[in-house]
Order: sequence, then structure tokens, then C-alpha cells
Amino acid sequence: MVSSVPYDSFAPNPNTPDGKTLLGPAKGTVPRGFKPLHLASGPEEAARAGRELKNPYPASPEVLARGQVAFQRYCTPCHGSGGLGDGLVTARFPMPPSLLGEHAKGLPDGQIFHIITHGQGLMPAHGSQVAPEDRWKLVHYIRTLQNPARTARKDVP
Ligand code: HEC
Repeated sequence: MVSSVPYDSFAPNPNTPDGKTLLGPAKGTVPRGFKPLHLASGPEEAARAGRELKNPYPASPEVLARGQVAFQRYCTPCHGSGGLGDGLVTARFPMPPSLLGEHAKGLPDGQIFHIITHGQGLMPAHGSQVAPEDRWKLVHYIRTLQNPARTARKDVP
């Protein structure tokens, strides 16, 4: 009982190819329901994302409301609640460009998705915090900020 016969999960193991008892998933394994994104970081890949990716969600009120919640959670500290680039941290962190400017307006949806996923310049990557579906909903919400004629819920704090 004190010293068990089998190898402990995290004990070294001379019988396995990598010397570890607990084997990793086989190469290329994808968790059920997970859609791998074949996008690397960098401006070329951002441009490719802009050409190749389409927003899979319609701009429904539910999608916009979720985009607004995600924006307020993850983006307002830097970009400000209206997307003008005047978030609270800009007292100490360089001010980001306005998301309402001509440059951001001209970015294709897929490129914005890529910027959120991998970051750009001083903006950190948000791929690990923000789920892919929320990133697409954020794109819709940004379009609403850029074009207020599109409706957004006003009752989400
Ligand atoms: C830590 C601060 C910070 C956070 C948080 C942040 N950003 Fe940014 N963002 C920046 C900065 C700084 C830039 C300018 C990057 C550069 O150097 O090109 C930027 C650039 C962008 C751009 C490109 C704008 C353009 O005209 O090129 C988009 C789109 C964008 N951010 C969206 C978002 C979204 C959506 C979120 C929330 C998921 C977010 N950002 C969170 C700081 C931030």
C-alpha cells in the first residue's frame, strides 16, 4: 500500500517515448466542439483573415447585446465605452486609435477578428480570454459603434 506498483501519473517513466507516465493527447487531437483557427499572428495573417473569414453571425439584437457586454468587459479599459480610445488606462498606457476612425471603419470583419485574437502592436492578444463566438459578436458591436444607426441595447450597464 505504501509503495504502489503502478507508476504515479506525474512520475518519470522509462517505458514511454517521452519519459512521462501521463501521455499527452495524440498529435493533431482536437477537443470535441473546438474549431481550430488556422491563423498565425502578424500583419500578413491579419490581412489574410480579412480576405478569407466571414462573420458567421447575423447582427441580431441578441448578438449585439452580447457584443456590447464583451466590449465593456474586455475592451473599454483601453478603447473607452464609445470606442474613442479614451479608456481609463490611457492615463498611463498609450492611447489606442479610435475605433470610429476611418482606418478602423475600413478594416474587414475578419481582420478585426484577427486583431482581437492575436493583438496588434501594443494591443495584447485576447484569444485566450474571449471565446471565438464573442469575438465575432464584438465585431458586430464595433460596427454598431461606427454606425449608430444600427441599434444596440442601451440597458446593459
Ligand atoms: C491594453 C489595452 C487594450 C485593450 C484591452 C484592447 N485594445 Fe484594441 N488596441 C489597443 C492599442 C494600443 C491599439 C493600437 C495597436 C497598434 O499599435 O497598432 C489597438 C488597436 C485595436 C484595433 C485596430 C484599430 C485600427 O484602426 O488599426 C482594433 C479593431 C481593436 N484594437 C479592437 C479591440 C477590441 C475589440 C478589444 C476588446 C476585445 C480591444 N481592442 C482591447 C489597446 C487595447
